[in-house]
Amino acid sequence: MPFDVDLVRQNWPHPVSYFATIDSTMLEAARLAEAGCEEGTVVAADEQTAGQGRHGRRWHSEPGAGLYVSTVLRPDLAPDSLPVLTLALGLAAADAIEETASVHCDLRWPNDVMIDSRKVAGILVQLLDGIAIAGIGVNVNHSAFPAEIAGEATSLRIAAGRQYSREALLVALLHAVERYLQILTGAAGKPRILGLFSQRSSYARNKRVKVDRGVAVVEGVTAGLDPSGFLILRKDDGTEDLVLAGGVRPAS
Ligand code: BTN
Repeated sequence: MPFDVDLVRQNWPHPVSYFATIDSTMLEAARLAEAGCEEGTVVAADEQTAGQGRHGRRWHSEPGAGLYVSTVLRPDLAPDSLPVLTLALGLAAADAIEETASVHCDLRWPNDVMIDSRKVAGILVQLLDGIAIAGIGVNVNHSAFPAEIAGEATSLRIAAGRQYSREALLVALLHAVERYLQILTGAAGKPRILGLFSQRSSYARNKRVKVDRGVAVVEGVTAGLDPSGFLILRKDDGTEDLVLAGGVRPAS
């Protein structure tokens, strides 16, 4: 189905740019942000030829199947709240997916959205002079994935056995992002987001995981989030490590 950008524009009060094909919505959103676009500006695409994932990976961006979107945020946040912003975006993506498709989502710290232990959505936040570009990719109507990610990825279609409107999902997602940003920048602030994430994520506590640190893989049991939103890992020798970036996988 062609992407109905008008439906999104009718349900979102900020500019929405749409591209049939683009290198990456992150690059276009950064260009718009540098040119002074308003908060809430959205860039969406039907296909990305150079979709960016975290840690320099590529994001599989099959034409017509997924939601590939970046939105420009100007949150009034201290720099030490930024790790919590990424957690808030994961919560927003999980809410939007659950509202749209009625499937239960888990959150793998910091912000991978999972269904049945497979990744259905990923989030990439890039900072640019106090502006945050929030990139969100959701596997919506994919019926299969390339061999290198097939064991790890899922889509709403694979999980629920039917196709979904990417436009309805995008509208739900934008409103969910707005809601969680209000929580984060409001009186309840960081502790509230940390509490919501900890309730929602099976990874936050008591999960035996392996963490890929680049130079070594460390194993232990998760022991909650610290006040900045970093993951506490209790190792088998009883000492604790703080995990600052992703690379968390269940230890089998
Ligand atoms: C991850 O590795 O989990 C993050 C993936 C983020 C993908 C989205 S798709 C829309 C936006 N544009 C990109 O190039 N990347 C993000």
